[in-house]
Amino acid sequence: MAKSGQHGGNTRQMAEKYGRKAEDILDFSANINPLGMPQTLRDAIISQVTCVERYPDIDYQHLHQAIARHHAAQMSRPESDFPASYVIAGNGATELIFQWVQQTQPRRALIVEPTFAEYRQALTRIGCDIERFVLVEQEGFAVTERLLAALHEELDCLFLCTPNNPTGLMPAPALLQQILNRSAELGIQLFVDESFIDFLPQHRGLTDVLDRYPNLFLLRSMTKFYAIPGLRLGYLLAANQPIMATLRDTREPWTINAFAALAADILLQDHAYAQQTYHWLHSEQSYLFQGLSQLPGLTVYPPAANYIFFRLHRADFDLQHALMQRNILIRHCANYPGLSTHDYRVAIRTREDNQQLLEALRDVLAHC
Ligand SMILES: Cc1ncc(COP(=O)(O)O)c(C=O)c1O
Repeated sequence: MAKSGQHGGNTRQMAEKYGRKAEDILDFSANINPLGMPQTLRDAIISQVTCVERYPDIDYQHLHQAIARHHAAQMSRPESDFPASYVIAGNGATELIFQWVQQTQPRRALIVEPTFAEYRQALTRIGCDIERFVLVEQEGFAVTERLLAALHEELDCLFLCTPNNPTGLMPAPALLQQILNRSAELGIQLFVDESFIDFLPQHRGLTDVLDRYPNLFLLRSMTKFYAIPGLRLGYLLAANQPIMATLRDTREPWTINAFAALAADILLQDHAYAQQTYHWLHSEQSYLFQGLSQLPGLTVYPPAANYIFFRLHRADFDLQHALMQRNILIRHCANYPGLSTHDYRVAIRTREDNQQLLEALRDVLAHC
């Protein structure tokens, strides 16, 4: 599995390295909703704490039904249009990346990079040949029509992250549709990671077209939007019943704990929390983006979700190290294929935290 330095949120490791307490570090490296876990879930876990005394339902029937119901309602379609058989929940989205790769055994895959490292990890583990489609600075790290030309019939699957982590961009809807059509024509399975799509209130992702594309697999994570990375919950959506049935039949039992199993129904119905999140993000996304854009020596990329990617035009200056002197942890992106030591990502946090980050950056960049 991934090494510890490859992800954000490793405050334990950074605290050890810098001789600090993990709880004193202001963590901008993990993209977690700063509103914290919803009160509705906290109450449910406390009142149902004895559920740990029983095994969870091995089929997670209620969990799958709750997720399916949510998507049917979101699309204003009858529940029968989005059956529970379209859903497989996992112990975080990460588990499902590995499980899907393990089961479908692609021989040749294309990854749009730089992106989340675990697609490559999972594919490497099964000895898959990996081709890369590289997002480039000259195109603002956007997915462009060049990707269509990179698709060919020798490919078994394509991994695409929308919005992409760490660059934060969403492909244009028309282009996404073309990618979908071209993949279907060429017999390529399209694995689209929509783990951050919930932060975009105007987007439903590709759930509406699942029915029409049996080659389409959508990955969702609940850990970021609902601030439960320690609880772990994600899910895979697909209309492809043969593959979904195999995934269901071959998975290890009980990988989702009893609290996570009860969480989806509560979280997906907590519309007040979703509205508060949109409200917070609406103001803080533009506040932090504008604040960063005014700093000298940075190129800041417009965010779609709850994190911002930027390039510092001083490859020899270690900005993460400089900010750790002030107990602020940001994500350096040097270990993403296609990026280097001048690339960084910061989570969007509360106004107070964002101000603190901007002040620290102003100071550090004035003296570097
Ligand atoms: C793009 C992307 N997909 C999936 C995941 C995994 O999320 P989870 O915590 O649900 O395993 C992450 C985590 O950072 C991510 O950035």
